[in-house]
Amino acid sequence: MPPPSVVKAIVPVAGLGTRLLPATKSMPKEMLPVGRKPVVQYVAEELQAAGIPQILLITGRRKQAIEDHFDADPELTAALQRAGNERMLADLAYTDSGTRFFYTRQAEPRGLGDAVLYGAEFAGNEPCVVALGDSIIYGERPGSTLRALVAGHFASGACATVLVEDVAPDDVYRYGIVAPADAGELPIGEPFRLRDIVEKPRVGAAPSCLAVAARYILNPDIFDALRQTPLDSRGELQLTDAIRLLIQWGRPVYAWRLRPSEQRYDIGNFESYFRAFVDFALADERYGYTLRKYLKARAYDI
Ligand code: UTP
Repeated sequence: MPPPSVVKAIVPVAGLGTRLLPATKSMPKEMLPVGRKPVVQYVAEELQAAGIPQILLITGRRKQAIEDHFDADPELTAALQRAGNERMLADLAYTDSGTRFFYTRQAEPRGLGDAVLYGAEFAGNEPCVVALGDSIIYGERPGSTLRALVAGHFASGACATVLVEDVAPDDVYRYGIVAPADAGELPIGEPFRLRDIVEKPRVGAAPSCLAVAARYILNPDIFDALRQTPLDSRGELQLTDAIRLLIQWGRPVYAWRLRPSEQRYDIGNFESYFRAFVDFALADERYGYTLRKYLKARAYDI
């Protein structure tokens, strides 16, 4: 029998992106380029590489560019064919990937949990992936982290599995932070159970330095939990709070830690966006070499 798999992913891309203004005034932050590709294309390619053929993007006003990006463009393709521009045609081959894209609009950005709830009917009775559209997961091979997360989810019998990364103690207030059930050395490469999860704890009050890293495998129970989760102090529905409710209901919730060779790039603020851009531009097979030479020369001035 083939191993159980996940075939659907919900990708929320409806947030306002205020931390990246003015760049995001009229352009979705998920369309910001990291090297030669917009962030959300990396996310879609990661899902494709992990074998997930159906993607629901939760969009909103001012997010039309995302839908256009994944759509075929016959005029542009014909112009490139006339010009014999094979290289550019190859760069646009992602629009012909065989993945089915679905779109729905979040009426207002009322929080990540509210955005995910729009995917309830799409997910149906199966576990689904939630992949934030503003974060890139860099792994040993494309999609390898997500494949491992899915396998871990089924192996542990979890109701929800969250990817986590180590963050500095001073940064915990930016993230959802998990509390492992067992004290002591935490495994890498296998899931571990959680006793709690807290959204943006105060520095000094966090149960660990393990932050939720933009990827989740969620059984359909999450939608019941989201419907029963109270809004936070800003009137938003938080996915972390709904996962916390699953734990309080006694459901098995697990975390899976990023391996040292893997990295999460958060494109939600300028500091980490700039770092992501530099890393991906330097790794670019076509332009990385000249950028490296330029940066080496410039290093004398910095
Ligand atoms: P963030 O938590 O970074 O929020 O969203 P944001 O609103 O986009 O950004 P700031 O805080 O205003 O700078 C994480 C992911 O969840 C999506 C975002 O589009 C992003 O991909 N999201 C967030 C939604 O789809 N809807 C929401 O209501 C909030």
